[in-house]
Amino acid sequence: MKIIVSIGGSVLAKELQPEKFRGYANVIKEIGKNHTVFIVTGGGKAAREYIGVARDLGSDEATCDFIGIDITRLNARLLIAALGEIAYYEPPLNYTEARTAGLTGKIVVMGGVTPGQTTDAVSAVLSEYIGADLLINATSIDGVYTSDPKKDKEARKFETMTPHQLIEIVMKTEMVAGANSPIDLLAAKIIERSNIKTIVLNGENPQNILDAVNGKHRGTVIEKIKTKKK
Ligand code: UTP
Repeated sequence: MKIIVSIGGSVLAKELQPEKFRGYANVIKEIGKNHTVFIVTGGGKAAREYIGVARDLGSDEATCDFIGIDITRLNARLLIAALGEIAYYEPPLNYTEARTAGLTGKIVVMGGVTPGQTTDAVSAVLSEYIGADLLINATSIDGVYTSDPKKDKEARKFETMTPHQLIEIVMKTEMVAGANSPIDLLAAKIIERSNIKTIVLNGENPQNILDAVNGKHRGTVIEKIKTKKK
């Protein structure tokens, strides 16, 4: 299979520790034995801190985004360092470079590409562009909920859902200021238009990513319901 794993900065670089990066690298190496893997890394706490300072200094939002992108690429570089020889030597700057880098047979690790979005969207577009069979979104929550579980005790987790349901949930969450959306709206739209099989799972423990590749996980599967032809 061709698999894209999007690792949120919130889990990869919660604290900047070599052991964390080694843990994800070991799991990626394992997946890479049987599958073609591309990784997209998020920015996490450092990105938020840098963006916060830039904003206080009067930077416009696009400039803040460029700073965020730089941090996602730094995290990509650290993961490349942890992967060693089996990884492509630097994070590609765009999708074409990523696809070309993939032709070397190395594991490609990249961060953000353009302002106005997050790495969720990057991983969705990359999935389209390389024809991925599976997109795994490893994040700090363990799936997609009916509402924000941090604020609503009644929130229930979806085991499976359609891309259309995902868009509805994301739109509802994004309308509330400061809400934690499980995936950004652009990514949800891309997942829908190309019907990319996506699993949103808790990535705090890297082993969960490997388990999901092997069909065992407790996250949410986003997939169009297949209709049977008569
Ligand atoms: P992330 O994808 O990490 O966003 O990008 P996030 O919401 O902080 O997610 P976690 O916490 O890692 O899970 C960090 C920032 O980088 C910029 C945005 O400002 C984003 O908030 N960015 C990232 C872009 O502008 N474009 C991209 O393609 C990627």
